[in-house]
Amino acid sequence: MDLKFGDIQETALIPLAIKASETARPNARIKDFKAKEIIDTLGVDVSKFDPFMSHEGVVARTIMFRDELKKLIADHPNALCINLGCGFDDKFSQVDNGKITWFDVDLPDQIAVRRKVYQDRDRCTMLDGSALEGEWTKALPCNDTTIVVMEGVLEYFSKEQVKICLNMLCDSFPHGYLLAELHSPFLEKHGSHHDAVKNTNATFGWGTKSGREYLELEPRLTFLSERSYNEEMKKYSIRGKIFAVIGRNINNRLAIFKW
Ligand SMILES: C[S@@+](CC[C@H](N)C(=O)[O-])C[C@H]1O[C@@H](n2cnc3c(N)ncnc32)[C@H](O)[C@@H]1O
Repeated sequence: MDLKFGDIQETALIPLAIKASETARPNARIKDFKAKEIIDTLGVDVSKFDPFMSHEGVVARTIMFRDELKKLIADHPNALCINLGCGFDDKFSQVDNGKITWFDVDLPDQIAVRRKVYQDRDRCTMLDGSALEGEWTKALPCNDTTIVVMEGVLEYFSKEQVKICLNMLCDSFPHGYLLAELHSPFLEKHGSHHDAVKNTNATFGWGTKSGREYLELEPRLTFLSERSYNEEMKKYSIRGKIFAVIGRNINNRLAIFKW
C-alpha cells in the first residue's frame, strides 16, 4: 500500500512496531495482536522503529496508561472516553467495561489510514479532529465525565500549542480527566538523539520538569499525579534499572489532571 505520513503522524508507527514485536515475544508483557495485523495489512516497514529504550518505554507506558485508565473507568463506568491522537492504538479493547462510549480521534489523514485497518465498533467510533481546535467536540454526546487520553502527542507541541489544547479541552467538556504523556526539557533539547524518533522527521516540542507547569496555562486544571516511566521500566532490565538512576528526571511521565 502506498502510504504517505505527515511528520508527527509517522511517529504512530513507533508504538505500533513495538507493540507488535513485544506481542511476538515468549513472555510478552503486553499483548496486542491487532498491531501485527495492521503492519501486515498496511505493508509498512517498521524495522527502524523498535530500538531498545523506546521499546521499553512504550511497553511501560502501555501498561501504566491501561492501569490508570481502568481505575478511572471503574469510578466512572459510563464515561465518555477520547483517545486524542490515537494513531493505531487499540486502547478501547484493553479497557472496555461494556458501558463506556469511546472516540478515537486524530488528524484527518491519520484517521483515513486508520480506517483501512479498523472499523467502528459498538460504542467505539473514529473521528477526524485536531487537539488544536475544538469543532469536532460538538459531534460528541454530552456526558458528566470525559476522560481524555493523550499518549505520545503533547510531546510534539510548542508551549503555545499545549495551551491551546488544554484551553480547548476545558472549554469543550464541563468536567474531565486528562491522562497525558509528558517529557522533559532534556528531551526537548536533545530529541535528535532519541533512538526511534530520530528516524522520523518529527521534532520534540516544549518539555516540562513537572506537570504542574500546565496549571499556568489552564487554571481550570487540577494536578492529580505524575509518575515516571522509570517506575515500570526498572522492573525488567539492568539498563532500565540504571536509567532509573541516571535518567531519574529525564524519562517521560504519565501525568493525570482533572477539571
Ligand atoms: C507518537 S503517535 C502516538 C499515537 C498513539 N497515541 C499511540 O500511543 O500509539 C502521535 C500521534 O499524534 C497525532 N497528532 C499529531 N498532531 C495532532 C493534532 N494536532 N491533533 C490530533 N492528533 C495529532 C499523530 O497523527 C499521531 O497519530
